[in-house]
Amino acid sequence: MSTRSLASAAAPASASVTAIDDVREFRNALGRFATGIAVVTLETSAGRIGLTVNSFNSVSLTPPLVVWSLARTSPSLPAFEASQYYAINVLAVDQEEISNRFAGKQPDRFAGLELETGLGGAPLLSGVCARFQVRNTTRHDGGDHVVFIGEVERFDYDDSREPLLYFAGRYRRLDAD
Ligand SMILES: Cc1cc2nc3c(=O)[nH]c(=O)nc-3n(C[C@H](O)[C@H](O)[C@H](O)COP(=O)(O)O)c2cc1C
Repeated sequence: MSTRSLASAAAPASASVTAIDDVREFRNALGRFATGIAVVTLETSAGRIGLTVNSFNSVSLTPPLVVWSLARTSPSLPAFEASQYYAINVLAVDQEEISNRFAGKQPDRFAGLELETGLGGAPLLSGVCARFQVRNTTRHDGGDHVVFIGEVERFDYDDSREPLLYFAGRYRRLDAD
């Protein structure tokens, strides 16, 4: 296992080739942490918003807190900063197409989907592994992302569904036990 160092932001220009290479390697290293995939959804006066994330995770049981992060470049950022509630929909193994569409350029990402309505009007997706209805409580600076920590007020889950996984830049599925 080789050790790599990340160039700091203040590194001299001559180190930039190494720094770019290191960032790629940094991403590769982060990609060794296997995650699930979720779609975070929100209702606004201008319509529904939703996007695919794999930064979702649990934080606290008491109070029930969860975390995810949103790129500062996202056009959805102002809506998420202003919202009172959003929903986190944990995708099932057969929902790769939904993950792709909520990470892509399709104008209406919700087109044709069967939806229910959660707290604050947040769209709840069907056929998922779990759904969390979250009060938008705190936001933190996360470099090129904004870190959202929210309090779960309602949740449901379906333990008959297997999760869609993400590892090393690719979708994965649970192997048979
Ligand atoms: C597997 C996967 C995981 C992702 N995780 C995140 C994430 O945690 N945070 C984020 O801001 N974007 C993430 N993205 C990228 C967004 O889904 C994508 O940029 C989307 O277009 C953002 O929606 P927007 O156009 O409303 O900003 C992820 C994409 C994929 C495919």
